[in-house]
Amino acid sequence: MMGFNLTSSFLLTALLGVFGTVVSASAKPTIDPICFLISKAASSATDVYYPGSPDYIEGISHYANRSSTQISKCVVEPGTAQDVGTIMKIIGAARVPFAVIGGGHATNPGFSSTTGIHIEMRRFSKVVYDNTKQTATIGAGLIWDDVYAALEPYNVKVAGGRVTGIGVAGFILGGGYSWLTNQHGLAIDTVQGFELVTPEGKILTVTQSLNPDLFFGLKGGSNNFGIVTSFTLRTFPQAQIWGGIMYVDGSQMPQVTAAVSTFSANATDPKAALLASYVSTLGQLVITLLFFYDGMAPPTGIFDDLLAIPSFVKDVRSRSYLSLVQSGGDVSHDQRSIYHTISPLQLTPALSDVILNETVFWGAQLGPKSAFAVAYAIEPFLPTIYSHNTTPTAFPPTRSIPFLPFNIWYSWNVSSFDNDFHTAARQSAAHIRAAAISQGQLDIAKTPLYPNYAIFDTPLKDIYGSNLPRLRSIKARIDPRNVMGLAGGFKL
Ligand SMILES: Cc1cc2nc3c(=O)[nH]c(=O)nc-3n(C[C@H](O)[C@H](O)[C@H](O)COP(=O)(O)OP(=O)(O)OC[C@H]3O[C@@H](n4cnc5c(N)ncnc54)[C@H](O)[C@@H]3O)c2cc1C
Ligand SMILES: *[C@@H]1O[C@H](CO)[C@@H](O)[C@H](O)[C@H]1NC(C)=O
Ligand SMILES: *[C@@H]1O[C@H](CO)[C@@H](O)[C@H](O)[C@H]1NC(C)=O
Ligand SMILES: *[C@@H]1O[C@H](CO)[C@@H](O)[C@H](O)[C@H]1NC(C)=O
Ligand SMILES: *[C@@H]1O[C@H](CO)[C@@H](O)[C@H](O)[C@H]1NC(C)=O
Repeated sequence: MMGFNLTSSFLLTALLGVFGTVVSASAKPTIDPICFLISKAASSATDVYYPGSPDYIEGISHYANRSSTQISKCVVEPGTAQDVGTIMKIIGAARVPFAVIGGGHATNPGFSSTTGIHIEMRRFSKVVYDNTKQTATIGAGLIWDDVYAALEPYNVKVAGGRVTGIGVAGFILGGGYSWLTNQHGLAIDTVQGFELVTPEGKILTVTQSLNPDLFFGLKGGSNNFGIVTSFTLRTFPQAQIWGGIMYVDGSQMPQVTAAVSTFSANATDPKAALLASYVSTLGQLVITLLFFYDGMAPPTGIFDDLLAIPSFVKDVRSRSYLSLVQSGGDVSHDQRSIYHTISPLQLTPALSDVILNETVFWGAQLGPKSAFAVAYAIEPFLPTIYSHNTTPTAFPPTRSIPFLPFNIWYSWNVSSFDNDFHTAARQSAAHIRAAAISQGQLDIAKTPLYPNYAIFDTPLKDIYGSNLPRLRSIKARIDPRNVMGLAGGFKL
């Protein structure tokens, strides 16, 4: 294949003119000229796929496939960082819309999809473990399942996704609440370095010593600074752990609320973690409980009340980290979805009652509007989770308030109801937040919103707070022509 040295946009414009002529003269109007130019300019490590090809369909697909997927001009699968640089230069000069996708779990429409050039990172799939440094360098196209499987033979693990299928890239670049967060902080707190292709096509190694500004910005700043090709993470010993999933019928709600509140208020062992979801699905109230303990079994006391609740599915045991993450099965589904969030300080029994009422209320309101699930996930982390890193990160803007992530997830089928679901998610979040304030959680007014959960029109200051000016100045320096503004996401 040819390798063009694209040094100036003048040259590019000339090339585009030539290719544009070639394309239109060759009676193949379905081939987009920018896609064609990328296929010619990149090395043989890179491929470009067009509508109709199975690789194209796989490339544009998402977890929330009905609402997060768009029909792009082509799918570009870069094979090297150099090729990513070439692609960035072409996109920057042509100023066409594009997307970069990792695991495709974005629930906000347009965040990793486009009608333009869709960049799929799956060829960045290496996992390299360094036993001496206790780090793993992982490719940006991987999902966590693959990373856990690759590290299992070394008997180590990393702070990544809690359920199956999530991409490493979007997860880390937004922050990353993991099963190891009580012990080690967010996923970003375990990052030692990034390889970044800048919007101008340069390949940079980003570490605290080499580039402190970008090292800060990439830790929560998502796709604003370029395309990340790999992440170097700290590893932690022991790939065998304890945990799994339990499904409980809604009739057991009082016991669940009591036991979750007790865990939330009283558990202090950082190796223990819980994720409890109240779900209204097709008229039924169901609770899913995900358990984690970083050891072969939890000490007695921590989970006993919860485990004693009658359940209709129970798969909780000693197992591999990968097996735990996959215990909930593949939840990807052919539906529309949206996430939203608030950041409470505590999950008290009184707030749990409000959340339960929201589950039932919105389940009933949205059921007739093609709802598949109306779900609220309670994530009772320890108040010390932000103390594991003293170096500032883009998210969260404050580490002195021990706020908790909290996830609202609605899923439905019919697109004409999109607005109803988006509006309901905002109203429900506002209602729970107001209830928390009236119950005395006054600091909730200052807690930032997690970018990987916040709905698409969330104001940037609600996510990045006082970090916003610094982030904007880093962004202006690394991306003076705002190339990343051509991709969706929370844009600085
Ligand atoms: C079922 C489910 C479970 C989840 N569980 C958790 C959880 O336990 N903890 C948690 O913290 N979050 C969780 N999340 C939220 C999750 O962190 C986000 O959805 C995250 O964005 C997913 O990353 P992805 O790579 O799969 O997404 P994608 O949709 O591929 O990408 C998300 C964003 O990252 C950008 N991006 C992707 N790759 C790159 C790259 N190489 N360089 C630059 N930018 C890039 C995209 O452009 C996009 O804006 C969950 C989400 C779902 C749907
Ligand atoms: C996702 O949506 C695309 C476009 O609508 C479709 O072609 C593809 O089959 C879907 N993928 C999955 C996995 O359902
Ligand atoms: C926490 O433990 C204390 C002492 O055992 C108990 O009195 C309290 O009720 C517990 N808190 C919750 C919310 O269960
Ligand atoms: C339940 O939630 C709805 C919607 O937020 C609210 O209007 C209603 O007052 C709540 N009911 C109770 C008993 O709190
Ligand atoms: C989704 O809605 C379409 C019509 O809009 C219908 O044909 C399809 O069966 C529905 N699917 C589900 C899973 O409800």
